[in-house]
Amino acid sequence: MNQPPLVKINRVGKRFGSGPLVLDGVELAVQRGEFVSFIGPSGCGKSTLLRLIAGLTEASSGELVIDGMTPENARELMFFVFQDANLLPWRRVADNVELPLLLRGDPTVRRQERVAHMLEVVGLAAAAQRFPWQLSGGMRMRVSIARALSVAPQILLLDEPFGALDEMTRDKLNEDLLAIRARDPFTGFFVTHSVTEAVYLSTRIVVLSANPGRIAQVIEVPFAYPRPAELRETPEFLQLLAKTSRALRAVRNN
Ligand SMILES: Nc1ncnc2c1ncn2[C@@H]1O[C@H](COP(=O)(O)OP(=O)(O)OP(=O)(O)O)[C@@H](O)[C@H]1O
Ligand SMILES: [Mg+2]
Repeated sequence: MNQPPLVKINRVGKRFGSGPLVLDGVELAVQRGEFVSFIGPSGCGKSTLLRLIAGLTEASSGELVIDGMTPENARELMFFVFQDANLLPWRRVADNVELPLLLRGDPTVRRQERVAHMLEVVGLAAAAQRFPWQLSGGMRMRVSIARALSVAPQILLLDEPFGALDEMTRDKLNEDLLAIRARDPFTGFFVTHSVTEAVYLSTRIVVLSANPGRIAQVIEVPFAYPRPAELRETPEFLQLLAKTSRALRAVRNN
């Protein structure tokens, strides 16, 4: 437990230009292997916080330390997954997954091995030669995750990746994401509006309040991994679900 945190957010504040304060005094230390969800009202700064961690925007006050580096210098450790799968329509599934490896300059054999492994992990080996438009929304998102994990990032940032999917597909992808993480471990930062998904996936849930965005509550999720799909039906799970919903109601109402 004496390991330094992989991600340390020190009293971070953020405003864009001369606009209002978007985030204020955000303080969080995240250990390697954690999966942290951010949940809170629309506009409270969840995406901004992910972008700060990813080094895509700069803090106005305070600092972020990623594995001893500035976010900008730690970019190679991280990969961002957005709500829109963002696949290149003219590239086949396998070629989409290969792209980050290609950009990084990995040799051909290594690329092929890694693409095959990732497609297997996300259950899309049979769809390797299809084009994105030949896939369902859930499949497209799995390709996006396979692409992100192809370079084995230490940190995966996911901004409402399953927000556009129906509940059944989302449940399945949540289970898939846990299975993927069991095989290819990463530290996760996850933005969602779904309380169920936050509880099912996370080691901790950070509830943010709005205007400015502040950490209102951090909820520990004590369930060990692997987490079976049926965990979601247990009284312990439902209790935590209720607790998180209450925390969310409290920030919505203030
Ligand atoms: N590049 C930008 N320039 C100016 N203001 C911005 C910029 N990005 C975000 N904001 C503002 O910062 C605030 C937080 O935005 P952010 O996208 O982080 O919220 P969010 O919690 O992700 O919301 P949602 O749940 O709707 O996705 C909003 O008021 C938004 O208008
Ligand atoms: Mg957002």
